[in-house]
Amino acid sequence: ATKAVILVGGPSRGTRFRPLSLDLPKPLFEVAGHPIVWHCLTAIAKVPYIQEVCMIGYYDESVFRDFIKDASNEFPQIKIVYLREYQALGTAGGLYHFRDAILKGRPERFFVLNADVCCSFPLNDMLKLFEDRDAEAVILGTRVSEDAASNFGCIVSDAHTSRVLHYVEKPESHISNLINCGVYLFSTECIFPSIRSAIKKRTERPRLVSYPSSENLESSFFQDEDDEEKKNEVLRLEQDILSDLADSKQFFVYETKDFWRQIKTAGSAVPANALYLQKAWQTGSKELAKASANILPPVFIHPTAHVDPSAKLGPNVSIGPRAVVGAGVRIKESIVLEDAEIKHDACVLYSIIGWSSRVGAWARVEGTPTPVNSHTTSIIKNGIKVQSITILGKECGVGDEVRVQNCVCLPFKELKRDVANEVIM
Ligand code: GDD
Ligand code: GTP
Repeated sequence: ATKAVILVGGPSRGTRFRPLSLDLPKPLFEVAGHPIVWHCLTAIAKVPYIQEVCMIGYYDESVFRDFIKDASNEFPQIKIVYLREYQALGTAGGLYHFRDAILKGRPERFFVLNADVCCSFPLNDMLKLFEDRDAEAVILGTRVSEDAASNFGCIVSDAHTSRVLHYVEKPESHISNLINCGVYLFSTECIFPSIRSAIKKRTERPRLVSYPSSENLESSFFQDEDDEEKKNEVLRLEQDILSDLADSKQFFVYETKDFWRQIKTAGSAVPANALYLQKAWQTGSKELAKASANILPPVFIHPTAHVDPSAKLGPNVSIGPRAVVGAGVRIKESIVLEDAEIKHDACVLYSIIGWSSRVGAWARVEGTPTPVNSHTTSIIKNGIKVQSITILGKECGVGDEVRVQNCVCLPFKELKRDVANEVIM
């Protein structure tokens, strides 16, 4: 049997996703018509014999309840459970803490997916490599530009055998442009002992390594035994485990040529939306709007949204539930969220319009396109770093004929005059 784990993080993470994560946990933010984590589930559902998915995080139990109910109806063959960490345990700490739950049913191996990446999740290809090489671990890798690489985990591999020779998390100097996509397949027999020996190493020399955890403030006040133990439960897959795997285990990399992007900043939801929409379009998804003179595919329009037939939408546009788009509106490369209203002849480009926000008639809300394959959502404009994507938080208002360029606007703001390159608080 095979299982899957999705690492969803918790409320102290996803801060770069503000203002969009102020009202909703990032994994539930919708791109291409579905929550980010739903895209992980669809990929998992395509792997034969996966019966159980564990979502591990430290959000409150109630946060994923409705999502799990809906997803269980949509993927009836998979049992979805949420396992809550009592504090942030790190990317491997949660796996270890919940090892009994993961090992239940005796799976020989399990996938681990970071919830905050957008990709085609070629899990079946990873599984094939795993079997072909009799692997103990497989990591998904992708090539990025040299200057982007050091923001990720970097992999040095043998070109012929795909064996991982060396792994360094966010290295200071360049070692490779093959990076960690945040998707793994582990044999249960290998990974839990590896985590255990990392813990052992740690307890043998606890004072030599410091594990700062801003999440767990108490530990800096009370340095008693108990806290030592708690701190020891924090384990990072990347720093504490993967390098050791590269040294001693049957560890391989599957390199994807397909799309891959991280979803960190709020602006990165726009490329993620575009990539998932393009994938849905290529696979002939029935959810997308039909192409026409005014619909340049791919475009997703929620069935409860109202779009005037004279509005021109696309490419890469998602319109959320009950949103209203008026006559003569132009929207491209953007996400319009639930209950938002775009009045007649307004123009929305490279932007996210927050829940229940209103964009006035003839207004322009615009960002700037970023180069294809760029792994950042900030750009340099007149010598300063600004947001490439314009984001309006929840319940913002843009007046008629007002122009908003490269701005991030916190919830409940009214923009009555033109603004550019600002964070509006
Ligand atoms: N349950 C749980 N508990 N999840 C966590 C925790 C935790 O304490 N900490 C992080 N996560 C989840 C996040 O929600 C995210 O899905 C994933 O684990 C990785 O998050 P980070 O720890 O912030 O790492 P990162 O995104 O900067 O880098 C990782 O991903 C890159 C690819 O996107 C690393 O694995 C890099 O090597 C990799 O390139
Ligand atoms: P399209 O035929 O709409 O594709 O126009 P285009 O190829 O000239 O521009 P594109 O679609 O790449 O980008 C949108 C641009 O179209 C914006 O800069 C707007 O100025 C303009 N635009 C087109 N139609 C409208 C409209 O109905 N209302 C507004 N406000 N702007 C529009």
